[in-house]
Amino acid sequence: MPQTSVKHSQQPPAPKLRPDHLAALADLARSEAGIRLTPEKIHFLQTRLARRVTASGSADFSQYIALLKRDKSERVRFTEALTVHTTSFFRENHQYRWLHEEGLPELSKRRSEITFWSAACSTGQEGYTALVVAENYRTAAPNAFRFRLIGTDISTVVIAAAKAAIYPPTDLETVSAKLRQKYFLRARDGSERHRIVPELRKMAEWRQANLVTGTGLAGITADVAFLRNVLIYFDAEIQATVIDRVVHHLRPGGYLLTGHSETGVRHRALTPVQPSIYQKTVQP
Ligand SMILES: C[S@@+](CC[C@H](N)C(=O)[O-])C[C@H]1O[C@@H](n2cnc3c(N)ncnc32)[C@H](O)[C@@H]1O
Repeated sequence: MPQTSVKHSQQPPAPKLRPDHLAALADLARSEAGIRLTPEKIHFLQTRLARRVTASGSADFSQYIALLKRDKSERVRFTEALTVHTTSFFRENHQYRWLHEEGLPELSKRRSEITFWSAACSTGQEGYTALVVAENYRTAAPNAFRFRLIGTDISTVVIAAAKAAIYPPTDLETVSAKLRQKYFLRARDGSERHRIVPELRKMAEWRQANLVTGTGLAGITADVAFLRNVLIYFDAEIQATVIDRVVHHLRPGGYLLTGHSETGVRHRALTPVQPSIYQKTVQP
């Protein structure tokens, strides 16, 4: 039988991350985004960063680290590669139930405009859920009030997605049929994707901001701040700095909502209301 020779295109091997690279990468991740990199993350880092090493024109991780130290724009891409953006509509639903049953009735008695802040907003589902719940509450509420949303995240990629507000059908599985019908429209591209209705989209402002350094947060004063599933990426010292910063941007009497696994929240101005819900003490 004649032998056919199959030529495989030769892919260069992926750059290899060595344990001795970790300290420099961990320092950069901490100073850029507060992200804590521990030795167990080596496989995660290898997967997430090997492509960046090659794309940046670096021959190996040592060259890439040198590039990161001198090039701000590569540090932005580095942070982008390290951040995890998992989110969903109605995630930690007990908090939205609290918002509907207790938070909004109480806030709308004393505030004519309520500001929600989704502080690590990812692709927008957290903030839009707050708008859906507030609009649904407002239509039958005893007190008239307006509301708006500010969404912030360190990643510009997710901020662009949040602004677009277009979601695949799998993302809508946690939204009831009634709310889907009221607050989502079929996307115009003929696909199965859905978009948040314009009335809610126009109540939202999205900006890039860094909770660790405080850049991008100027002017935010929130009545309800969602700080969920982001503290877990920080060490205890950075967690304390970020909590203090978010509390500073919260109106007295306002509420802070954290992820259910982020249990170590302690701050002199915060009083626990329910698990993972805190109220900022009203200053005299
Ligand atoms: C797992 S998602 C959480 C999304 C949403 N809060 C939720 O609970 O569904 C974490 C988000 O935190 C963002 N993030 C990480 N470090 C940050 C920082 N220093 N400042 C602002 N956002 C950050 C990431 O880009 C990512 O979108």
